[in-house]
Amino acid sequence: MITRIVYVSRSRLNGSPQDQERQTRRILASARTNNRRAHLTGALTFNEGFFAQALEGSVNDLAPIFERIRGDSRHSNMKILEHVQVEQRLFPTWSMAYVNTPTGQERHPLAHFAFESALTDGTAPEAEQLLRILRLNIMALSQPADGGAVQL
Ligand SMILES: Cc1cc2nc3c(=O)[nH]c(=O)nc-3n(C[C@H](O)[C@H](O)[C@H](O)COP(=O)(O)O)c2cc1C
Repeated sequence: MITRIVYVSRSRLNGSPQDQERQTRRILASARTNNRRAHLTGALTFNEGFFAQALEGSVNDLAPIFERIRGDSRHSNMKILEHVQVEQRLFPTWSMAYVNTPTGQERHPLAHFAFESALTDGTAPEAEQLLRILRLNIMALSQPADGGAVQL
């Protein structure tokens, strides 16, 4: 069985949008290295002050890494939207896919996800909505050799 956790959190990154993007890429780089080793897969978004992440793997692999993520001071107010046991992964080829919405591109579907209210009241429906958006935006891509990011 695979455990899947989907959460949203408030970013504590400081600096210009470019600085924050650079810091997010550093998070992503270490996430990919660690996740590959632990057979974890998933997707991460960073959008105007919020993170959202889907993480999946065996419970033994996932639990210690998730505890590290939960304690990471680069974000706060983590709200777990979903914590489920499933038979199949949704992001089987991604050590950690990256989807972001550059400021100003309001027509992107992620721009319509209500991060703020998900942070207080989000549950399974918000998790499903997020997963749908993430998967739609990742579907058309195959994982590059460097596990590279995609900007939408
Ligand atoms: C929003 C967010 C998402 C993260 N996702 C992951 C992840 O998927 N895998 C991971 O190992 N670390 C992730 N991290 C980083 C961990 O909190 C932690 O810094 C890292 O696992 C430490 O490993 P390192 O010393 O190899 O960098 C994330 C951090 C943040 C703020």
